[in-house]
Amino acid sequence: MTSMVDLDTWRSLPAAQQPNWPDAHALEVAIAELRTMPPLVFAGECDNLKGQIARAAAGEAFFLQGGDCAEIFAGQTADAIRNKVKTLLQMAAVLQYGASLPVIKVGRMAGQYAKPRSNDQETQAGVTLPAYRGDAINGHDFTLEARTPDPRRLLRVYNTSAATLNLVRAFTQGGFADLRQVHEWNKGFIRDSSVGDRYEQMANEIGRALAFMRTTGAEPDELRTVNFYSSHEALVLDYERALTRIDSRTGLPYDVSAHFVWIGERTRQLDGAHVDFFSKIRNPIGVKLGPKSKPADVMALIDKLDPDREPGRLTFISRMGANLIRDVLPPLVEAVAATGTQVLWITDPMHGNTYEAPSGYKTRKFDDVMHEVTGFFEVHRALGTHPGGIHIELTGDDVTECVGGGEEISHEDLASRYESFCDPRLNHTQSLELAFLVAEMLRDR
Ligand code: PEP
Ligand code: CO
Repeated sequence: MTSMVDLDTWRSLPAAQQPNWPDAHALEVAIAELRTMPPLVFAGECDNLKGQIARAAAGEAFFLQGGDCAEIFAGQTADAIRNKVKTLLQMAAVLQYGASLPVIKVGRMAGQYAKPRSNDQETQAGVTLPAYRGDAINGHDFTLEARTPDPRRLLRVYNTSAATLNLVRAFTQGGFADLRQVHEWNKGFIRDSSVGDRYEQMANEIGRALAFMRTTGAEPDELRTVNFYSSHEALVLDYERALTRIDSRTGLPYDVSAHFVWIGERTRQLDGAHVDFFSKIRNPIGVKLGPKSKPADVMALIDKLDPDREPGRLTFISRMGANLIRDVLPPLVEAVAATGTQVLWITDPMHGNTYEAPSGYKTRKFDDVMHEVTGFFEVHRALGTHPGGIHIELTGDDVTECVGGGEEISHEDLASRYESFCDPRLNHTQSLELAFLVAEMLRDR
């Protein structure tokens, strides 16, 4: 079956934030090779996720999405991947147990390698070079060689994403994600923090509940494995197009670079290339909405990206800032609800709350993050709509990138373990703290 859809109309539209590849031939060679590669995910898996998102949009599940701001090739060690997966599984257990809701687990992982930048150039000590745009495009070292965009990096994105996904699938299908391992997921993390104790207590309660269930003879398969989905900002359109395939079952196109892809705040122009490309693929998709979003923009995005109002198709990821969400979000949610359209609303409490610490590090305050999440729940509670999920930048490691939280990380502490090449991430403890707080909000919803 061939698709009637033209997947290349975006090429004649303005595409924001695309790299300036200096060598057009090298780009062609890389793209030709990517087009021959097997899919990283299957269309049927994307459809399963879409079905689950539809449930979350109806208030019957909660969407948990998290991972690095920018993955880096050198960071994809087994330990780092395992710690991230464990952190997300722990957060999911806290949310699921606390709120009695199924949790959809989505990694900002296995493909999150390209970054939009406010400036094309960066100047250090009088030297100006191209800005770092993520490992998909150039290197982080401040040298002309590293900063020159190299399309062969796109092949490395594919290969590294495949390796990451392979390990994630092994972890989540091979018994490691079994709910009876809920204690194991805390191993290797510091346990003497109060959030660690709280987690152990919850894990004991889950253990008792599972033991009780076993006495009834129930041993459901669902305990053994979990569905874990991949996602990234689909920024570099040449890469995403090269990984778009026609599903043999349905004849429809899917971007098989990830289960879920989203459009960033800087690339969501209604007549731009990204919106056009996304309108053609059948994956569940997201769009970031910043503080300047207007109800009319949101409705126009729905008309372009989800003209058939397909359940689970569209997720809006609001990232307004802690002080703006209570004013900016309500008219958007109301406008959508008034038309009877069902989308999934999730909160990204990170990107509206970034500032520069006196030492120069980009950081975020844990309290600002929580203040935005609280605002998100308040808005939805007031309007009778569903606070459907959270989108977080996190890592399973003990980094010091965001200030505050139970460990009371200070501005002075940032230097001790700041590893992100891009935005600051919640560390393992801060991520679990956030999950406990969100679980309470969900319980009272
Ligand atoms: C991001 O998610 O890392 C990002 C750049 O977000 P936004 O598009 O919302 O600024
Ligand atoms: Co970011």
